[in-house]
Amino acid sequence: MDIALLGLPGAGKGTQASLLAGELGVPHIATGDIFRQAAAEGTPLGDQVRAIMEAGRLVPDALTIAVIRERLGAADCAPGAVLDGFPRTVAQATALDGMLSELGRSLGPAVYLVVDEARAVERLSGRRVCPRCGATYHLETAPPPADGRCGRCGSALVQRADDAPAAQLQRLAAYREATAPVLAYYRRDGRLLEVDGDRPMADVGRAVLAAVRAGGAV
Ligand code: AP5
Repeated sequence: MDIALLGLPGAGKGTQASLLAGELGVPHIATGDIFRQAAAEGTPLGDQVRAIMEAGRLVPDALTIAVIRERLGAADCAPGAVLDGFPRTVAQATALDGMLSELGRSLGPAVYLVVDEARAVERLSGRRVCPRCGATYHLETAPPPADGRCGRCGSALVQRADDAPAAQLQRLAAYREATAPVLAYYRRDGRLLEVDGDRPMADVGRAVLAAVRAGGAV
């Protein structure tokens, strides 16, 4: 089964996608992580996306769709995947339906994690990440060890460049303009499952799993 997680920047998509993928035993595919890794490694893809991401704008559809097409076709995704941060435009959602159909699959539910913008900003502002292993913390809701280093690998934690206030505003604007219409795309044919994301992480996780199961995807 293939499942997409939707929601505002900071809604908790990465947190919940990781938990859900673990529960379902399928890969967690995050376009943001793929782009950030490429940027950190200085690959040609990374050089194309670095400035776009730091400014909080969206990477062009053609590039993003090509990345996902290649990843979804990999052998480890044959049983399906949990998509985090994709699709983010109606063009991406349409392309996803097409590429899954070519693979003989179809998207199960699109799970929309509902939080308001004020909560999203709180989460983005307090987020700290490990540049080495990717672990995510929040200064208040998921605090890191007292020495400010990653509890998993010991690296110094950082704030994502696009969590700076100006980039946050741009990301919220990009969401309103380009991503909010994706909700209507899935709502139209009954594939959108709404889950209240403004609860403790474990409660959201239980609700997502229950919604996915009730939606018949697993
Ligand atoms: P991406 O990395 O996808 O960023 P995003 O969508 O803005 O989402 P975030 O990663 O910021 O937040 P999240 O919802 O995953 O929340 P998280 O779980 O971390 O994309 C980055 C950039 O890449 C884009 O701006 C764009 O440039 C480019 N890009 C990516 N995909 C693209 C696409 N498809 N098309 C075009 N461009 C694309 O949680 C946030 C914080 O809150 C954490 O600190 C966490 O610990 C905490 N938290 C989580 N859940 C809870 C909870 N229930 N209670 C309390 N705290 C919580």
